[in-house]
Amino acid sequence: MLTNQEAIGFIDSGVGGLTVVKEALKQLPNERIIYLGDTARCPYGPRPAEQVVQFTWEMTNFLLEKKIKMLVIACNTATAVALDDIRAHLEIPVVGVILPGSRAALKMTKNNRIGVIGTDGTIKSGAYSAAIKKKAPNTSITSLACPKFAPIVESNEFHSSVAKKVVSETLQPLLLKQLDTLILGCTHYPLLRPLIQNVMGSNVTLIDSGAETVGEVSMLLDYFDIANTPQNKSAVNEFYTTGSPKMFQTIADEWLDIEDINVQHIRLGGQ
Ligand code: DGL
Repeated sequence: MLTNQEAIGFIDSGVGGLTVVKEALKQLPNERIIYLGDTARCPYGPRPAEQVVQFTWEMTNFLLEKKIKMLVIACNTATAVALDDIRAHLEIPVVGVILPGSRAALKMTKNNRIGVIGTDGTIKSGAYSAAIKKKAPNTSITSLACPKFAPIVESNEFHSSVAKKVVSETLQPLLLKQLDTLILGCTHYPLLRPLIQNVMGSNVTLIDSGAETVGEVSMLLDYFDIANTPQNKSAVNEFYTTGSPKMFQTIADEWLDIEDINVQHIRLGGQ
């Protein structure tokens, strides 16, 4: 029997989901977090959908053994292809990042011209366009795959001059589209946010799909009456990676602004 003290599980292909965790630490400080990043197999973006579904199940099963009370698929690529399947098989609430990002963009846009950037997999799936058009069919949506972005973040080069150049060159096709809102449809992208904002200009509102998701997590904790209380917060958060714990820790320490988080290496699916 799961209790309110159980953790919320977060999964991503690597460090990107930490942008969601950062928001969770702020909005839900009573909750315990267990995070798994499949860094060894990142990026997921160029992989076939079936493989992303399989990897997402492997991450999910690892966290289910830890008895989580809710699962957050903190990866757009995995959400696009695996959310429905995983949700259909689990008894705990399962939250993806695409619907919260779409809702936030619809709320923010004034001219109904929304851009979406994401991995190849996310853009090819058409998941954002479908989600937005279902709610507001007259919205103009411009989608752009940015396959170089996640690897830059994953290798901790997001402050570099290479990052600046790649972001600027990649986003050029969006500049003539008169967008007033741009969805960061990959949880790695908030780490590139200053560079993206600089290229897009201050008139374009950037939507952090992961951060928007935490609002939904908070609402579901209340709806299912499974939120933890300050009195019951006991054990510490756990972080797991299939890659190098050192690299993961460097990025996590900077991004989450917590010192010495405990990162453990694990293997998935016969790695
Ligand atoms: N962070 C992931 C996302 O939100 C994907 C990055 C990747 O593995 O390609 O889509």
